Amino acid sequence: MNFWRNLQRPIMVLAPMADVTDPAFRRIVAKYGKPDVLWTEFVSADGLFSSGYDVLIKELEFTEPERPIVAQFFTSDPNMMGKAASLARQLGFDGVDINMGCPDKHIVRRGGGAHLIKCPQLAQEIIRAAQQGAGDLPVSVKTRIGWNKNELETLLPALLEPEPALITIHARTRSEMSSVPARWEHVKRAVEIRNEQRSNTFIFGNGDVTSVADGLRKVVETGCDGVMIGRAIFGNPWLFAKQPPANLPQMRLEVLVEHTKVYAELLPHKPFAIMKKHYQAYVTGWAGAKELRGKLMNAKTASAVASISRLPEWFVPPPVI
Ligand SMILES: Cc1cc2nc3c(=O)[nH]c(=O)nc-3n(C[C@H](O)[C@H](O)[C@H](O)COP(=O)(O)O)c2cc1C
Repeated sequence: MNFWRNLQRPIMVLAPMADVTDPAFRRIVAKYGKPDVLWTEFVSADGLFSSGYDVLIKELEFTEPERPIVAQFFTSDPNMMGKAASLARQLGFDGVDINMGCPDKHIVRRGGGAHLIKCPQLAQEIIRAAQQGAGDLPVSVKTRIGWNKNELETLLPALLEPEPALITIHARTRSEMSSVPARWEHVKRAVEIRNEQRSNTFIFGNGDVTSVADGLRKVVETGCDGVMIGRAIFGNPWLFAKQPPANLPQMRLEVLVEHTKVYAELLPHKPFAIMKKHYQAYVTGWAGAKELRGKLMNAKTASAVASISRLPEWFVPPPVI
């Protein structure tokens, strides 16, 4: 049941991103440029087993074309992680991922996300609890290189001990948030540590990858088994497509309208404003884009978005070469 072993390496995956890789955007990505594996955004394991269930369960909806798909959870409580992993198995996910990298102070204060970098023993307990709850599904971990300095030499052996199927290394510390360039030499070192430990766990690298080609270069440089790409998907659902189209303004607008419609249908309980960061990314790079972005920022329904998402009449498309 460890689907990771059946994939051809290097494996190219889309990063979990809160309020981005929601059920609507995942459907769009699966349709236009499917990565080897999709992730849900992170979901609070504690929230799932409290009054938050009705809202959070909607984040865990997925369709068959999104497979293989991994559910990501965060908590500081092994018991809650075990329950969440068991739920993921019942819901038919292909894998379970544990967030040990989120730098957000609200998450860290509750002992989850990157806080676990400071508590390797608890991190191990959480991995083991997830493995127990997940049954035969593979369990993976996403973390950073350390809290405020590189701690891979001690952190990684501790995380490898319970034998997760995969560890993704976001090549920055928690303190660095996303404000310095990712340092991929640490991904290379992570691969060496994994090899020294004679572990079978896959190591993926993450941070600042701009395209699949860029990811492949980093695989060659570091020897990692796969690459996780996040922000480069904004405005470009063709990012992982084997033969990406020319990504012309007209196509972007068509996808923007489709994405908005799916979002409104699937996630009516979520603020419509969440779509705005996508609009910023879809509507860029042509004369008149700024004006259209301005209008989209004020739109409040999918039908309003559909009616204004047009190129200016004077727009001349670039030649297709
Ligand atoms: C808007 C946004 C939301 C994110 N949410 C999550 C999340 O839910 N879980 C997680 O593990 N990482 C999350 N991340 C971190 C990304 O998965 C990734 O590690 C980071 O963006 C670096 O990769 P990139 O440079 O390719 O974007 C988020 C990042 C962004 C920009």
